[in-house]
Amino acid sequence: MNRKTFLRGLGLGTIGALGGVNLHGRSANTPAVAAALPDYSAVGDAAYWQAVRAQYPLDPALHYFNTGGLGPAANPVIETFIAEVHAHQFKSDSGHDTFHHHRPVVAGFFGADESEVCFTRNATEGNSIIAGGLALEEGDEVIFEDHAHPGGSGPWYNQRTRRGVVSRLFTPDPTSVEGNLERIRELITPRTKVIQISHVTAPTGIVLPAAEIAKLAHEHGLWFHIDGAQSAGMFPFDLRAIGCDSYATSGHKWLGAPHETGILFIRKERNAEVLPISAGSYTGPLPEILPGDGTMGYVDNATRHEYATRSAASVAGIAAAVQFHEAVGRGRIARHGRELAEALRAGLERIPTIEVLTPAVPELRASMTTFRTPKLGYSEIFGRLWKDHQFRCRPVSEQGLDAVRVSTHLFNTADEVERLVAAVHDVVTAA
Ligand SMILES: Cc1ncc(COP(=O)(O)O)c(C=O)c1O
Repeated sequence: MNRKTFLRGLGLGTIGALGGVNLHGRSANTPAVAAALPDYSAVGDAAYWQAVRAQYPLDPALHYFNTGGLGPAANPVIETFIAEVHAHQFKSDSGHDTFHHHRPVVAGFFGADESEVCFTRNATEGNSIIAGGLALEEGDEVIFEDHAHPGGSGPWYNQRTRRGVVSRLFTPDPTSVEGNLERIRELITPRTKVIQISHVTAPTGIVLPAAEIAKLAHEHGLWFHIDGAQSAGMFPFDLRAIGCDSYATSGHKWLGAPHETGILFIRKERNAEVLPISAGSYTGPLPEILPGDGTMGYVDNATRHEYATRSAASVAGIAAAVQFHEAVGRGRIARHGRELAEALRAGLERIPTIEVLTPAVPELRASMTTFRTPKLGYSEIFGRLWKDHQFRCRPVSEQGLDAVRVSTHLFNTADEVERLVAAVHDVVTAA
């Protein structure tokens, strides 16, 4: 190896040469997130959730009900992120060698092996890696729901343009698990290769029956991918128990991780079937410094999709967000969000003309509630709640639903939900 090749190799990253060396002089262990939370049983429900709320540097005048769009981060997450930025800038070090401390923390949260998880920038990127990375040919078909967010449908429409992959859409059935299975089953043809669902649909918060759909997909030898942008952090689940082949989510929604963070899971038995859509440092052996024949080699786990320089502070932020959820309790967070959603639904249903679009069937809903009224368009209700009352909800224009979506999460309180119901009542009756 001549001097020039040797130096170029070093410039490509820290693989091998610096692996395992902690350049910023901190402990090599992921520090536990120290959340100042009281003992739930000692203080009681209302005081506990007020204490959780106090962990968020949200404007006290703002009633934030748009976690499904963008979730705020708690103080310990923000502090971890900022400290990591400083630590890495202090030595001008990428911090890539710290990822392997955070990966098991995040993988464990999803019931996954650390070899099955890679860090991405958002859910859309994870969905795109699956859509672009599977070996599909012109005329092959993918099934997904017509309520898919552009971050779920766009990656497949892109494959239509690039490779002629055909999308076949079903409308989610808000009334039963079996109804959804039936609608998917009807679309399966000999050309079907992939089924994708939103774990929780973005427009109306339908929780699709992931484990049952996984079974259906595998009975037909199909790849099953979940767009989990709305489920990670909303309620607990285990990806191995669900049985999907891949799952992509955002960090910056229900997990409350820093902006521009995401996680992609690929089941290790099927890892080799997803070729990277972007390749470079960390994808595989470095072609420049290893003798090769010009072909690309790939790391034998999900990290093959983590090409090039990344924000180590963001990755530390995801691990901190996961730890914050564990500190509060994942089941407790899910119950709280759902109880608030139930209280909201009950309140909305008492307001004349309001129609709740989120399923009435308990197993098909969780912590998002979408409603509408024929008296006002979605932008008017959304606008009045926001401008007159400082309630930040999410307008729903998709599929002509003309509705408003409310996300209820761990930093929201029963008192806020009561006030939201009263505000909706005022807005609708004044119309
Ligand atoms: C179901 C679903 N998929 C994908 C996305 C896009 O998320 P991201 O911005 O993290 O790519 C969203 C955002 O709301 C979503 O609801």
